[in-house]
Amino acid sequence: MRAAVYDRYGPAGEVLRVADIDRPEPEPGEVRVRIELSGVNPTDWKSRSGSTPRPIEGFQIPHHDGAGVIDAVGEGVDASRIGQRVWTWMAAAGRRWGTAAQWTVLPSRQAVPLPDGISARLGASLGVPAITAHRCLHADGPVAGKTILVAGGAGAVGHFAIELAKFAGARVATTVSGPEKAELAARAGADLVVNYREPDAADRLRSFGPVDRVVEVALGANLALDLAVIAPGSQIVTYAAEAEDPALPVRSCMNANVVLRFVLLYGVPSDPMDLAVKDITAALSRGALTELPAHTFSLDDVVAAQDAVQGGAVGKVLVVPG
Ligand SMILES: NC(=O)c1ccc[n+]([C@@H]2O[C@H](COP(=O)([O-])OP(=O)(O)OC[C@H]3O[C@@H](n4cnc5c(N)ncnc54)[C@H](OP(=O)(O)O)[C@@H]3O)[C@@H](O)[C@H]2O)c1
Repeated sequence: MRAAVYDRYGPAGEVLRVADIDRPEPEPGEVRVRIELSGVNPTDWKSRSGSTPRPIEGFQIPHHDGAGVIDAVGEGVDASRIGQRVWTWMAAAGRRWGTAAQWTVLPSRQAVPLPDGISARLGASLGVPAITAHRCLHADGPVAGKTILVAGGAGAVGHFAIELAKFAGARVATTVSGPEKAELAARAGADLVVNYREPDAADRLRSFGPVDRVVEVALGANLALDLAVIAPGSQIVTYAAEAEDPALPVRSCMNANVVLRFVLLYGVPSDPMDLAVKDITAALSRGALTELPAHTFSLDDVVAAQDAVQGGAVGKVLVVPG
């Protein structure tokens, strides 16, 4: 099969190439998926560049997320799964078989049926962003009736954080940096969209009411804003590291009686992962999750695809393995 591979860390143009390799067979408990679309996330270029290295055993096919059709199952997996349309999550975590290839193999529970009518584009966009968004939203309890602030609501995680929060019955405010992203966040269903670069950002958020939980993409940049709008005893849940770690204003955090939580998908236990998958499936079935604008690359252009994500492309970068 054709696959994107790398066997050492470095810039995409130097280490990432397309190769012909043997098509994998599913091990016991696994399924094989014929990939229609592979979804690219920041973690994929960070793993490949070595900035957040993950072990490489021989070679690595990148990308966790994808959509496709199961065409073979390993021992112990119900053969009726063959032919099922699925989306994948964490395909390349601790495994070499990422989705930037014509086929991947992965544990059966990491290939989730796509409800009827859901596009492969949306399916390939879900894994890392939607599960991260779900974990950030729900790790500290239900959000129905609560007020959620999603920082960076036009990002991939931010987008699904807005949609999953609305689906769970929350009121949602979000921040963006300009009009194009404001439009995307409003389309995702945010009740209030605020430009965090404007001087009245805190006032506009405060007028929406005290925030019960923040889903945070940039703790250092936004902590003062978060503390200005958060209700006492509430949580700020951070899922991204900035170029430099912030200095923590301990007294201000104490004054707010705030809880700081951090989420890294690679370490989330299996129960909350399964709960996220269940809730995402329910939201998909009810039409509550939508696509971001897609930038689609062929497998031969996988270097450009990863570089587009690294460059901060607005929307979702997808690769067609062919
Ligand atoms: N912990 C985990 O398990 C996990 C999972 C998924 C992603 N991540 C990390 O989370 C980050 C975002 O991932 P993604 O896929 O959502 O990326 P993305 O689609 O590029 O979105 C990032 C968004 O954050 C916004 N942003 C940047 N600085 C901001 C600020 N100070 N305030 C508000 N918004 C800000 C960006 O817009 P503007 O710059 O225009 O504001 C952009 O819309 C990446 O660093 C990724 O590695 C971590």
